Amino acid sequence: MYSQLIILSIIFIESSFGGGGDGCPPQLSGCECGIRPYGTSGRPTYVTNCTNQQFNQSAEQYMRHVPIETEVLLMVGNLFPQLSRNLLNQSERYDKLYMVDLSRNGIETIHGQAFHNMRSVQILHLDHNNLSISDQHSKQTIHPRIFSPLKSLEELHLRNTFSKTRYLNNSIELINSLTDLFHSTNLSLTLKLLNLESNHLTSLGSEQFFCQLSSIQRIRLADNLLTTYPINSSCLRWLSSIDLSSNMIVSMDQHSIDLIGSSGMERIGSLHVDLSDNPFRCDCSLLPFFRYIRNITSATVDIRHVPKIEHVQRFRCSHQSTVSIDIKENILMISLNWISIVHRRQRQQRHQHR
Ligand SMILES: *[C@@H]1O[C@H](CO)[C@@H](O)[C@H](O)[C@H]1NC(C)=O
Ligand SMILES: *[C@@H]1O[C@H](CO)[C@@H](O)[C@H](O)[C@H]1NC(C)=O
Ligand SMILES: *[C@@H]1O[C@H](CO)[C@@H](O)[C@H](O)[C@H]1NC(C)=O
Ligand SMILES: *[C@@H]1O[C@H](CO)[C@@H](O)[C@H](O)[C@H]1NC(C)=O
Ligand SMILES: *[C@@H]1O[C@H](CO)[C@@H](O)[C@H](O)[C@H]1NC(C)=O
Ligand SMILES: *[C@@H]1O[C@H](CO)[C@@H](O)[C@H](O)[C@H]1NC(C)=O
Ligand SMILES: *[C@@H]1O[C@H](CO)[C@@H](O)[C@H](O)[C@H]1NC(C)=O
Ligand SMILES: *[C@@H]1O[C@H](CO)[C@@H](O)[C@H](O)[C@H]1NC(C)=O
Repeated sequence: MYSQLIILSIIFIESSFGGGGDGCPPQLSGCECGIRPYGTSGRPTYVTNCTNQQFNQSAEQYMRHVPIETEVLLMVGNLFPQLSRNLLNQSERYDKLYMVDLSRNGIETIHGQAFHNMRSVQILHLDHNNLSISDQHSKQTIHPRIFSPLKSLEELHLRNTFSKTRYLNNSIELINSLTDLFHSTNLSLTLKLLNLESNHLTSLGSEQFFCQLSSIQRIRLADNLLTTYPINSSCLRWLSSIDLSSNMIVSMDQHSIDLIGSSGMERIGSLHVDLSDNPFRCDCSLLPFFRYIRNITSATVDIRHVPKIEHVQRFRCSHQSTVSIDIKENILMISLNWISIVHRRQRQQRHQHR
């Protein structure tokens, strides 16, 4: 009797969550729509999941049929070169929709009004696409206001988003257009995380580039081609982390040290900076930086407001370095003193040989 009840209730639960097998309207056949545990907390969440459906008509033909209850929309791994205006049904209110993932869709262009009706979306992923946001000939930004309907946006993920053919040797054109996009929105009020990883960026144009995003807390720039420390964070009161790992930073001169230390406004907590896996040239020019690290990690400074340099054990020397050596956290200063001694000896020897 009990077991029959249990079986019945299981069937009931499955049919109420699963609908006719997948719970989706016919236009989204193949997708999964329904409540399931989601995220690290496993909270029951209404997920509409159209991953790898090989959809290749225009995106709005599918997205206009997304169930109104949807909280998380995964439209990943399809083929949508153009995102046209009004992706969602404009007659509906998607009040619960807080996360939209449009990664891996081969997106090349986005219409200025594509994201209308997404005012509740907090997290937007556009990772791994082929996007151009400026005109090939005029270099002007095509739709400066594309992000402006996203009135609640807290996380913008643009990892490997932009066209390599367009921007490979043109970081500045990309950066100028991103500046236009941020300038034409109120993202400065809401945005807490910006991910620009893996976009072949060689420069951010200005050390003040992020100042227009005054609420930003986390900046992710890993896996680009930046050659110097690029950010003056004195304008960013809430900033808590900058990830610059796996770039092309060769040295950290006094100006870079000043940039890390700069905090014109009183910062709320410590700033965490990750510089691991950069090809540091390990010679004497790095000594001031390592003295700085030693100073800020020493117990004598008030540790609440000084920057924290993360993953020092993953610092590495480029093969062009005068002396190549594994720098481990504990023996950092010893190694560097040793480097400078070896360096001096080598110079003296060269002198003597002459
Ligand atoms: C979405 O669907 C894909 C492919 O079926 C699956 O691998 C993934 O785990 C699903 N994600 C969620 C959150 O249900
Ligand atoms: C679009 O998808 C359908 C069904 O998977 C397929 O038959 C068609 O060849 C695809 N068209 C393009 C242009 O990829
Ligand atoms: C959009 O929503 C309205 C109101 O619910 C509905 O009548 C209409 O059929 C929907 N359009 C599409 C394309 O689903
Ligand atoms: C990316 O888009 C450009 C046009 O902007 C096109 O020439 C190129 O073939 C596309 N690359 C891929 C991998 O789809
Ligand atoms: C980018 O610049 C490098 C070096 O200047 C050059 O070898 C490469 O061909 C350029 N690539 C493109 C796509 O223009
Ligand atoms: C920013 O917000 C203000 C006040 O809510 C509004 O007047 C203005 O039009 C918004 N700007 C943009 C670009 O959305
Ligand atoms: C950072 O910017 C502030 C404000 O523009 C400026 O006063 C300060 O000198 C800058 N810091 C560095 C190291 O350039
Ligand atoms: C060490 O750090 C403290 C706190 O940031 C600073 O006041 C002091 O000038 C630094 N000393 C050196 C030698 O860098």
